[in-house]
Amino acid sequence: MPQNYFITTPIYYVNDRPHIGHAYTSVACDVLARFMRLSGHRVHFLTGTDEHGQKVEKSAFQASVSPQALADANSQHFRDLTGLMNISNDDFIRTTEPRHIASAQALWKKMLDNGHIYLGSYSGWYSVRDEAYYQEAELVNGKAPTGADVEWVEEPSYFFRLSAFQDKLLDLYNTSAGFIGPSSRRNEILSFVKGGLHDLSISRTTFSWGIPVPNDTKHIMYVWLDALANYISALGYPDTQTPLYKDFWPASLHMVGKDIIRFHTVYWPAFLMAAELPLPERVFAHGWWTIEGEKMSKSLGNAIAPKALVDEFGLDQTRFFLMREVPFGSDGNFSRDRMIAVVNSELANNIGNLVQRTLSMINKNCEGVLPGEAARAKSNDSVAVDSDKLSAFIERCEFDKYISEVVRYSSEANEYIDKKAPWSLKKQGLVEEMGNVLYDLAESIRKIAIILQPIIPQSSSKILDQLAVAENKRSFQHLLPEFSLIPGTPLPPPQPVFPRFMEKAA
Ligand code: MSP
Repeated sequence: MPQNYFITTPIYYVNDRPHIGHAYTSVACDVLARFMRLSGHRVHFLTGTDEHGQKVEKSAFQASVSPQALADANSQHFRDLTGLMNISNDDFIRTTEPRHIASAQALWKKMLDNGHIYLGSYSGWYSVRDEAYYQEAELVNGKAPTGADVEWVEEPSYFFRLSAFQDKLLDLYNTSAGFIGPSSRRNEILSFVKGGLHDLSISRTTFSWGIPVPNDTKHIMYVWLDALANYISALGYPDTQTPLYKDFWPASLHMVGKDIIRFHTVYWPAFLMAAELPLPERVFAHGWWTIEGEKMSKSLGNAIAPKALVDEFGLDQTRFFLMREVPFGSDGNFSRDRMIAVVNSELANNIGNLVQRTLSMINKNCEGVLPGEAARAKSNDSVAVDSDKLSAFIERCEFDKYISEVVRYSSEANEYIDKKAPWSLKKQGLVEEMGNVLYDLAESIRKIAIILQPIIPQSSSKILDQLAVAENKRSFQHLLPEFSLIPGTPLPPPQPVFPRFMEKAA
């Protein structure tokens, strides 16, 4: 049954330029969005930029530009990232857009009208880097538990009655077991909420870069309330009758990094409950990347720009590595040596070699026409794709396992080519047998390329072009035998898809 699937990335802060951590979140969402489309679902895929708050204001001040100018420049860099990484988002929202501002204010009014907001005053710790409030007891050696600096804040503030939602949130985690993934994160959030929730300060008065609070413009909204609202503002809220809102809210999945799980699984559902809106189905938190064993940071200057990787290794090589290297949900380390090893062993030597050997043999020995009349007729010897297993991996965001499974298919096909040795069949004059082996291999490649599309869309389509597979015959339903390749089809001359990466001589 086709379903509507709404997937979101976090919206990225515009205090800085994109690095591979950001590319990672976006690529993971893109894999899911593409997988769902190929499975026949209607997908809406949202990303964008988070542009207000003290952190952005402070960075702008340090750079001697206005917050708006900094936001414009860096938002564009994140928009460029979607092109660079071949992200198939349907919308890109900026929190400085009028559509968002009006929507966030409407959400505020609704929560206020429902009695969940009151005026008070805040005195306590705040971390600008994390854009988060911390309790005294949470501090570790005078710093936030994340290691960020904190400052003492005392100001009038509106509060959200978060404490009133403790039981409802616990109910949510208990009744919708899949709401938080992976399960280790669920336990972390459960114990946080069981520990007791304090009301949340949701407005600031000591700076001005934010959305004005309706009817009290001395206050601007806390940036996290503003930011979380993007997930509904982009669908047209407060108009709940727009086609986008009707078809796509509640979200199927909010993908987030582990650092922002609390905002998405505690504050966000509580805000939505307060506004009497349906809750997202799932929030999934992935881990963090370090670089050659070190934390990525501005001060260490070791952040890797996605463009540097794409320029050096290629777009699909980068996407493949990010999804392949680390079990999704765990932390991972980026190392150049591993990048080269993965690109060479799995893409060049395994999948690339299979495609190259098969297609060039067809080109040289079959006059560029797909052989194998008999092979298509019998139940063929191409790889057996386990679609249920692949879907289950995607459902659980186990992208590395999905890729291992496909790499295993490719290894099997490579073993088949070695065992059947079509080159020696030719030498023995067994031309028809050779054609049948090459057909089975071409059919294996077709299936492998179809299922690799979510991960490496450009290269997969290059492979499918070389097999002359029509553009409208590339979705998962076309894995079925009735859509197998047709012998006699002329194939274009083969071109290498995954060159081996060679270190340039120093
Ligand atoms: N603006 C907030 C999100 C608001 S969503 C309503 C924010 N932005 S961020 O730019 O700091 O981070 C965006 C995403 O990038 C987060 O999911 C974060 O986990 C991810 N990453 C940032 N650094 C990362 C790594 N080093 N490794 C992996 N992901 C990382 O938080």
